[in-house]
Amino acid sequence: MSSYIDENKAKYIQRLSDAVAIPSVSSWTEQRHECIRMVNWTQDLLRTYGMTVELADVGQQELPDGTKIPLPPVILATYGNDKSKKTILIYGHLDVQPALVSDGWDTQPFELTEKNKKLFGRGSTDDKGPVLSWINVIEAYQQLNEPLPVNVKFVLESMEECGSEGLEDLLKSLKKTYLMDVDYVVISDSYWLGKEKPCLQYGLRGICYFFVEVECSTKDLHSGCFGGTIHEAMTDLVAILDSLVDEKGCIKINGMYDDVAPIHPQEEDVYKAITFDVKSYCAEAGVKQVIQENDKEKVLMHRWRYPSLSIHGIHGAFDGVGCKTVIPRKVTGKFSIRIVPNMKIKTVEKLIEKHVDNIMKNIRHSPNKYSVKLEHGGDYWVADFNDPQYLAARRATLAVHGIEPDLTREGGSIPITITFQELTGKTVLLLPIGASDDGAHSQNEKFDIENYMNGNISSTHSAKMSSEEQQLQNGTTADSPVSAVENAKKSDPESSKVTEPGENVADASVNSDEKTLTTQADTTVPATSSPTDEPTSTTTGTEQHSLETQNGKSYPNSVNSKEISEADDQLVTVNGNADHADDEKKTNGHGKRDIDYVNNDGTSEGITTAKKVKTAAVEDEEKEDGANKNVQEISAV
Ligand code: BES
Ligand code: MN
Ligand code: MN
Repeated sequence: MSSYIDENKAKYIQRLSDAVAIPSVSSWTEQRHECIRMVNWTQDLLRTYGMTVELADVGQQELPDGTKIPLPPVILATYGNDKSKKTILIYGHLDVQPALVSDGWDTQPFELTEKNKKLFGRGSTDDKGPVLSWINVIEAYQQLNEPLPVNVKFVLESMEECGSEGLEDLLKSLKKTYLMDVDYVVISDSYWLGKEKPCLQYGLRGICYFFVEVECSTKDLHSGCFGGTIHEAMTDLVAILDSLVDEKGCIKINGMYDDVAPIHPQEEDVYKAITFDVKSYCAEAGVKQVIQENDKEKVLMHRWRYPSLSIHGIHGAFDGVGCKTVIPRKVTGKFSIRIVPNMKIKTVEKLIEKHVDNIMKNIRHSPNKYSVKLEHGGDYWVADFNDPQYLAARRATLAVHGIEPDLTREGGSIPITITFQELTGKTVLLLPIGASDDGAHSQNEKFDIENYMNGNISSTHSAKMSSEEQQLQNGTTADSPVSAVENAKKSDPESSKVTEPGENVADASVNSDEKTLTTQADTTVPATSSPTDEPTSTTTGTEQHSLETQNGKSYPNSVNSKEISEADDQLVTVNGNADHADDEKKTNGHGKRDIDYVNNDGTSEGITTAKKVKTAAVEDEEKEDGANKNVQEISAV
């Protein structure tokens, strides 16, 4: 398989180049036909490889001026329907962020350009490249005349960068049909934590995106005639924006940290074990230093488990070159808050409304008209990484990269993740393919050729190993990386040391010239071993740790098959309430689900593996410590 993929490198690069050449920018509403062209292009590609493709109509988008344009259809594609095989569902998106050469690109953003083994182009890593990796796998199996070990379903949308309009309703309507027989959901729409070491992710922050509009007059005014006499919309708005977050990144809105999950006693250890270099992170961002300075654990915590607030722009304000002395009549500030367990979208919305009311009425005493709108709200997500498919993906990563992946979370948002989890009752896996320096959404976005090619193989292995999950649960698969771990353990009693997620049991270092990965045990394995080339790599023992997941339970994390079944028993309990996904969900008035759920024991809050239920002890502690406990915690960290 890996040699086939290597031989077909040029074809895969050309395929990505063709995809990038379609400027499917979902926010360029006047060019909606490009998103639709991208859907058709992908549909043709999928059909070429014998997939059954359906385009699901998700209706129209209403623009602010009231005009309506079509939403791009969602691709539902199926490959294989063998009842004896597991079915994996791949979600990805075909739309991209805007890009113009004038933004500062060194190349044409919609012409894929190869330079230093990197492929530059908008959408190369977010998310056209990773989506193609999965399609390439199906083609490779076909060309090699090998039966695919799993059935595959795709859900590919083209409105993700604008909040996935229409997708949630479509998926709900497919719960009892298309989604019914799905065993695993995999999403490749995120990035490694660094440039060399792969990771699997079990968490995402959610997002609440706000528009604050301030209107001061019926028309734009000359500042020479009116300056000094009127309450300007822009000065009100700047005051509002300035009141949101301080120089330490702390959100200055009363109550915003009240629902943030307190730090688990062992939590810091989890971050300590993860391979992450703050200096490289600064270099990737192009900044001199970060707020948390050189403190790796704090940087990770602020990316993954604390909320953040970013100000994105002001619509209606003068932003041209030169000087214009106008007082704009109406301006709209745009900012977003990344939300984390256990924040609630509705609470965040209320707090922001209250805060803006207070600034405008009690601080500015402004007579101006203003409004606060939650433009879109997406929930956070934290999964149980002891789900068998995480174990399958760890084995796959070990087989492809010769190294155990770090188990990490992400600071970004893929709001549809939790919808898949609720509707299928299965745990979703985030299998990132891109690297940390890919620059999604930024100038010069790129995808490393090596990541693209290995992505093809990772997807293959993940699919293959997911199909072996049953075997795994019944006992260790012969000659698998798992048994390599087991054997190593048996022969080396020292090896039963306790490690944390992210701690690298193989601790391999990459030798890129020779394309090999050298483990600590001095065993060299090919970086691109094929499914049959089982790595000879040995690891130094059982991985075990416990970490609280969103359902408030702790799971041992282990690659030991016995422990897998134990973890599974717990999963049964946890997933036992998956039926509640059927429960009617309240919406928050923005078409989004409210996050009130039914608990395992029938009480409120907490669903499947998704929602954390605070323990009574934690709640009591919070009450005692007062509402601003987390604000103190956050300033202390
Ligand atoms: N691929 C990203 C999600 C992502 C971002 C994962 C950063 C990991 C790290 C996705 O395409 C994206 O940009 N999502 C938006 C969501 C929003 C439009 C609702 C985001 O995070 O801003
Ligand atoms: Mn994406
Ligand atoms: Mn994106």
